[in-house]
Amino acid sequence: MSLRRIVFALAYATLLLSAAGPAVAVPVRRSVPWPQNDPFYTPPSGYESSAPGAILRTRPIPSPLAGIFSQTENVANAWQILYRTTDALGNAIATVTTLIEPHNANSAKVLSYQLAEDSAAQQCAPSYTLQSGSGGTSSSLDLLMMDAALNQGWYVTAPDYEGPKSVFTCGSTSGQGVLDSIRAVLASTSVTGVKSSAGVVLWGYSGGALATGWAAELQPTYAPELKLLGAAMGGTPSELNATVNAVNKGPFAGLIPAGFLGLSQQYPDLNSYIQSQLIPSKAAAFNNASAQCLGADSTQFANQDIFSYFQPNFLNGSPAATAIANNKMGSYVPKIPLWMYHAIHDEVVPFAPTQALVTKYCSEGANIQFTQDQLSEHIILDITGAADAFTWLKARLSGVPLAAGCTTRTTTSEILDPGALLVFGSIIFNGLQDLLGKPIGPTSLA
Ligand SMILES: *[C@@H]1O[C@H](CO)[C@@H](O)[C@H](O)[C@H]1NC(C)=O
Ligand SMILES: *[C@@H]1O[C@H](CO)[C@@H](O)[C@H](O)[C@H]1NC(C)=O
Repeated sequence: MSLRRIVFALAYATLLLSAAGPAVAVPVRRSVPWPQNDPFYTPPSGYESSAPGAILRTRPIPSPLAGIFSQTENVANAWQILYRTTDALGNAIATVTTLIEPHNANSAKVLSYQLAEDSAAQQCAPSYTLQSGSGGTSSSLDLLMMDAALNQGWYVTAPDYEGPKSVFTCGSTSGQGVLDSIRAVLASTSVTGVKSSAGVVLWGYSGGALATGWAAELQPTYAPELKLLGAAMGGTPSELNATVNAVNKGPFAGLIPAGFLGLSQQYPDLNSYIQSQLIPSKAAAFNNASAQCLGADSTQFANQDIFSYFQPNFLNGSPAATAIANNKMGSYVPKIPLWMYHAIHDEVVPFAPTQALVTKYCSEGANIQFTQDQLSEHIILDITGAADAFTWLKARLSGVPLAAGCTTRTTTSEILDPGALLVFGSIIFNGLQDLLGKPIGPTSLA
């Protein structure tokens, strides 16, 4: 068997394992109202004058936290925090983060985990899908990564960084949403026990890396007081147009309507433009992507030419070109250390723009360890790159010093790195144990 086949077999086994849930799990009632029908999400009047990151409201998670296999997670506590943040147009908005406390938690360690929501509808937000009563559509890979952190005793916060209008792919709304969720979590001590001085790291892959990367870029200007210890991001969509061109007519084509409609929910001029450019007989089908989640989008739009929904030259019209340009990463330089990983043959988020982004960041003084993976593709690297990212985050939270500057390395597959398989194995093992209802967290106080 070739190395490529071994690595892919391992990754697919993980995918199958983590996707096995719906088939074996007990049917879940949809007992939790959608965010759009849940008054918790509506901020109290006058909230606009509170500071970014201010806590507006908290509650214990209404329905138990959902696990990888649709079982409920045996954690110590989980809360939802409604907090004030700022959207891309500078307006005050309120959104929710889910904060999870494992058993034997260490109140001085927090991971901000950005799930790959990849959808433009409210009921796809993590705060909703992470609840078992929702019939949750969170990616099981995301849940596996979050479990790995919880099993270290870290608190995990998972923000609805797209905000109340689900502005999927909007960079500054997402980044600011992440930064303010961290402010809110650090201010939540009296409710959650998290220390206000806790060390914080960030992690996200693909759509989650978009939010993570924008948070890293905007931190020096938007939240300079936050002392973040580092951010890991993989498959980073630094240039939306590259993804549009890469996924059109392929299995991931549904990301395009979700992305355009997500942006249009932020920019009113883009919304009018999109609606005016849609071919009337196809508009309703296209607009479905503003009301459904990634799975339904993938099914509805698979292998279609998304440009066939539009008048010619849609992408070059000024509202579309401006939105794409404004949401390209690289106008700001992160000051926090970054661990970045990307598949050279990534078929969803092309490699070249991210490589260019790393070069730009590094020429402007960033601190980055960048791994280019030769064997993996987009989904595969989410799995095979996780162990290294996790090990790096662990070192940041433990205060292991880092050399300044940038390093770039090319590896056949990150899963073959020394120690990676061991870490990977324990991530899977813990995931399986969590299925059996084992209390999630370290066995003794960290
Ligand atoms: C759009 O969504 C509606 C409602 O869910 C559904 O009936 C319809 O089939 C969808 N359109 C397409 C083209 O899939
Ligand atoms: C996006 O890509 C298309 C197709 O390659 C191109 O025509 C368009 O000019 C690009 N737009 C931007 C804003 O880069």
